[in-house]
Amino acid sequence: MLVEQDAALTLRVVDDDGERTIEAQAGRSLLKSLQDASVPVGSVCGGQMACGTCHVFVEPIGGGAQQVPSRDEITLLEYSRHYRPGVSRLACQVEVTPALCERRIVIAPED
Ligand code: FES
Repeated sequence: MLVEQDAALTLRVVDDDGERTIEAQAGRSLLKSLQDASVPVGSVCGGQMACGTCHVFVEPIGGGAQQVPSRDEITLLEYSRHYRPGVSRLACQVEVTPALCERRIVIAPED
């Protein structure tokens, strides 16, 4: 399915306050989308893939292809004691796509 860049998409997000939906624009970073929706997510390095504080769990709730993290991203995630292989991601490295609408984005606990 082709989706225009900047198309409005709905994401499911879970944080300490429970589950809710937020609007996000296709093509933007998940981190920026969470911040714009006032979801409490860390970003000490400002999205430079250097801190690991933007750790989220991208849990499948439907079909669709999952974005694959880079080796460098996995290496940083492995420092977290909450790391979950195949589910953990750095929000600053995830692009908002229609496939992300078929996932539940859970804010990982702080390390
Ligand atoms: S904001 Fe630092 S790794 Fe994502």
